[in-house]
Amino acid sequence: MVELLEIAPFDQLLSHFRFFLTLRSQEGHYRSLILFRLSTGQAISKDGQANGEEKPEPGLLATESDPSYQLNTNSKQLYAMEASCPHLGADLSHAEIEECDNSVVAVCPWHRYDFDLRTGKSETGLKACTYAVHVNLDSKAVELVSIKAPEEGSGWRLVELRPISEEFADPPPTSSPRAKDENDFRNESAPPVEDEPVVPLDNPPKTLMQWAVLILNTPNPTLKVERTKHAVYLFRTGKLSSIGHKTASAPSPPDLPPRDASWTRNLKADPSQVRNRKNRAVMLHALANIEQWAIDLAWDIMARFGPSHPNIPSAFFHDFTKMALDEAKHFSLLTSRLSAISPSTPYGSMPVHASLWESASTTAHSIRARLAIIHLVHEARGLDVNPGTIDRFRRAGDLDTVKVMEVIHADEVTHVTSGHRWFMWICEQQGINHDDGGVIRAFREEVRKGWRGEVKGPFNVEARETAGMTRGFYEDLRGELGINQDGNPKESQEERTLVRDSVGAPGKALADIPVEYEKGS
Ligand code: FES
Repeated sequence: MVELLEIAPFDQLLSHFRFFLTLRSQEGHYRSLILFRLSTGQAISKDGQANGEEKPEPGLLATESDPSYQLNTNSKQLYAMEASCPHLGADLSHAEIEECDNSVVAVCPWHRYDFDLRTGKSETGLKACTYAVHVNLDSKAVELVSIKAPEEGSGWRLVELRPISEEFADPPPTSSPRAKDENDFRNESAPPVEDEPVVPLDNPPKTLMQWAVLILNTPNPTLKVERTKHAVYLFRTGKLSSIGHKTASAPSPPDLPPRDASWTRNLKADPSQVRNRKNRAVMLHALANIEQWAIDLAWDIMARFGPSHPNIPSAFFHDFTKMALDEAKHFSLLTSRLSAISPSTPYGSMPVHASLWESASTTAHSIRARLAIIHLVHEARGLDVNPGTIDRFRRAGDLDTVKVMEVIHADEVTHVTSGHRWFMWICEQQGINHDDGGVIRAFREEVRKGWRGEVKGPFNVEARETAGMTRGFYEDLRGELGINQDGNPKESQEERTLVRDSVGAPGKALADIPVEYEKGS
């Protein structure tokens, strides 16, 4: 009996030619796939969107060698293949598609091995995993697209269906961060970067790890965003020599990413003194600050823990480079909205805090702790509070910001999913069993050690569940960080020292910041 996993009505797949799918089994295993919908000759717009409804050639490739032949009575030229190249793990999202003789192949961007979209076979002898795609009519005559579920595991479900833009076909600017390309999501009102190129002239990074450390050491947020875009472009298109996490010479990330002087000055101000916290400009400024830290957190987890886990699959780097790019996009969208509604208070003009990095410091010793505290507590809290924040902007009539926040919220569900995926992975490496509740116990133990106080609700149960976090993870959960055995707060809060000393002794201001991912509150 073939187990089919429903993906979407076919009509919903006409907007793009490729989709990234994330599947999760009830045992907590993940699979990342690319669903390819082949063009039939119409023009492709610059952002990868189809210009109107196409007319696919019926039945093409539905031959007896097609594994979907038995059930696929209405071929739409849809193919599903695992997202990581079986050679060295490149992301196949941006693979070229070539038609040759009787087959269609995906050409890996890293070393140009090609893989037959139907069989997964390559002339090199390697084989990519492919999944038969079916199109069936439901009771209302809607064409539903499904794929054959992976054989290992059970109860597979689709947790992410993301259109893949073709924007990476256009290289981003390399000479100056002020250059423009039409896919640019940079904030035009952001402060200029003084003559510092996106790619350093001296000793330009060659590996993903070198880019990660360069970006972490980039104080200017605009340049950080540009470098993030450029590094992810190089990584996805095979223009880096390697990820670089397996070499002894992988560079070390900084203990604390530096910030511009103006930002440091504002860190010394007390954010709790900001009047009218419900003010939209104040909220946008605070959210942009969180996103700037989030860019660093995505690069830091790769640079800090990649070298100490040389066996980590390349999908880890795909997930976290995607996260870094998302956070860069969020930062740009939020600062654009800030300058639109309040030109007199650009980003960097208000007091900010570094509480997110405080948790980064306290979890710098362990990838398991980092994933638990940053991605499954802080970011999961974002899922809880985002709907309320969106509501506030809607009530204020600021529908442009509502749209921005909806994009951010959807992206963040995928970030928590990534946190869950790699938390499951590290637990498996450590022999922790999912079936007997071991993973949840391990998570709760990390929170007990690495979190201060109650993990607060109310919870967005649905979004958390989509991301893999069932109630057992977070209900009735309390952290004991900074608490003595007698239950009283520790006198010296040594876990804060690093951030405080490095940034310039914000002292009381930092200590007064609640350690939460309370977006917009
Ligand atoms: S051919 Fe894909 S990683 Fe080498």
